[in-house]
Amino acid sequence: MKKRIYRILAVLTAACLLLAASGAGAAKAENELWWKNTIAYEIYVRSFRDTNGDGIGDLKGITQSLDYLKELGAGALWLTPCYASPQEDNGYDIANFYEIDPVYGTMADMDELIREAGERGIRIVMDLVFNHTSDANPWFVEARAGRNNEKSDWYIWRDPGEDGGAPTNWRSIFGGSAWEYDPIRGQYYLHTFLKQQPDLNWENPEVRAELYKMINWWLDRGLGGFRIDAIINIKKFLPFRDFPADREDGLCSIRRMLEKAQGVYLFLDEMARETFRPHDAFSVGEVFDEKEEDLPFIIGENGCFSTMFDFSEKHIGADPRGWYASALPTPEEYKAAVFAAQRRCAGVGFFSNIIENHDEPRGVSHYLPAGERSDAAKKMLGGLNFMLRGLPFLYQGQEIGMENTVFDSIGDVDDISTLDEYRVALDAGLTEEQALAAVAPFSRDNARTPFQWSAEANAGFTAGTPWMKVNPNYPRVNLADQRGRPDSVYEFYRSLIALRKSPDYAETVVYGETEPYLPEEKDLMAYFRRGDRTLLVAGNFRSEERTMPLPGEIGALLINNLPELSAADGAVRMAPWQFLVLELA
Ligand code: NOJ
Ligand code: CA
Repeated sequence: MKKRIYRILAVLTAACLLLAASGAGAAKAENELWWKNTIAYEIYVRSFRDTNGDGIGDLKGITQSLDYLKELGAGALWLTPCYASPQEDNGYDIANFYEIDPVYGTMADMDELIREAGERGIRIVMDLVFNHTSDANPWFVEARAGRNNEKSDWYIWRDPGEDGGAPTNWRSIFGGSAWEYDPIRGQYYLHTFLKQQPDLNWENPEVRAELYKMINWWLDRGLGGFRIDAIINIKKFLPFRDFPADREDGLCSIRRMLEKAQGVYLFLDEMARETFRPHDAFSVGEVFDEKEEDLPFIIGENGCFSTMFDFSEKHIGADPRGWYASALPTPEEYKAAVFAAQRRCAGVGFFSNIIENHDEPRGVSHYLPAGERSDAAKKMLGGLNFMLRGLPFLYQGQEIGMENTVFDSIGDVDDISTLDEYRVALDAGLTEEQALAAVAPFSRDNARTPFQWSAEANAGFTAGTPWMKVNPNYPRVNLADQRGRPDSVYEFYRSLIALRKSPDYAETVVYGETEPYLPEEKDLMAYFRRGDRTLLVAGNFRSEERTMPLPGEIGALLINNLPELSAADGAVRMAPWQFLVLELA
């Protein structure tokens, strides 16, 4: 029996990769875009690092963490909105695009961050939120003052419906009617999200020109690019009309109207021509519900964005009645969604791959079976996502395996959409206790708890009182404990990043095609990456040992989340949650 233990090989390979990556440039020709060869990292500014003791993360906190982020290997940092804002939706309600909110710092802090990041080869990517503004934005203040001023057509206004009520029966994303009555104009304005977030009227060329001016102003300041919020929503389906109600409140999700709208790409292409392209800026779209035939307009050579997030896994188990009725994904559903997404973008462009972001629960709590929180399982999930074709986009804390938090009562909840879903659950007849338990696993707050730097007070996030309760598990899960510990989740992510950046493997890891391997095999997720080399990526989605037949001879073991690997008779024995990247001979 031919049996080999690959332990030494794995250790040696990982060490070589780290060495190679530290001095390595991109493997592909230099004319390839910089962002494809790096990894991106999302910072939820409010919860990353507080430097002045007010309990809220700030820009200085990011600047002070740049050496850490460079050590990790991030080449682009997406910051959630830090513009002047009343913070009704934690900054996704912008009152002034040209100002930094004092809670996060000053424009000088932002300039310093851009400069210091640049010196470390890191680009700053800001959040572009322009489907809507805050109702405190002077544009809206002017617009609502009357029907005949310069900005009166900058937002979306309609007369009351025949019954004197809202013009249509659309429900906003955060609950309730998507229309708000304004007594001064005697009209309703549309808000896809909160009523404090009125939708801009993109049909108005003046609005578009003003937004492009603002984008260019930021890019001229040295910004690397933008993440574009809620972008599909800027185009509405006209003329406005009711849609069949989908819940007992008699309303219908505004998504039904938005998904019928055509021609958003004309706006987006114009924006790309006027802003991103001349600056060679990076852009990543928050694109939901795109139609497959539209993909080449969104990403790839002629797309309006560099890349877009793949959200297909997020939709698994979603129930139109609300979170209380929704289910968590099974491994088979997860695998099917991921492979379908890889198929969709093949030959078109790059998706940005995530397991979580500030709008989702923590990936390790969502995609792994309930209660499974071992480092091996966390690494496996992270590795399977990271090795896909596309841009790996890590969310703060993912690299140390941060988990969902604990809500003692609804009073612990900050997130407006969790509060809405809680009400929906109560209306459906759940008790308060049941409603909280039902919405907790989906809450956006799970990802918004402060970053766990260390086991010190408040996880080292602040010397003051954190704006949101720190996840009580921080003595167990924190960066200080993991940094430099070879078997930690953090060092595992570093080895994945090193592989992506290593001259020998970058071509395959970045550009190689994805081809599922044994897709019918239950609880096994495996795929090839085929470029100038052939890699086999595999994860055992099970708490039991299993065997995986090999499609050929192993040339090298590149990544292993466990200390050992045994192979015999053309198969590998995979321990529970084992994750492997093998190079085939
Ligand atoms: C998507 C953002 O990521 C989310 O946090 C926000 O609430 C909505 N868009 C509205 O801007
Ligand atoms: Ca602060």
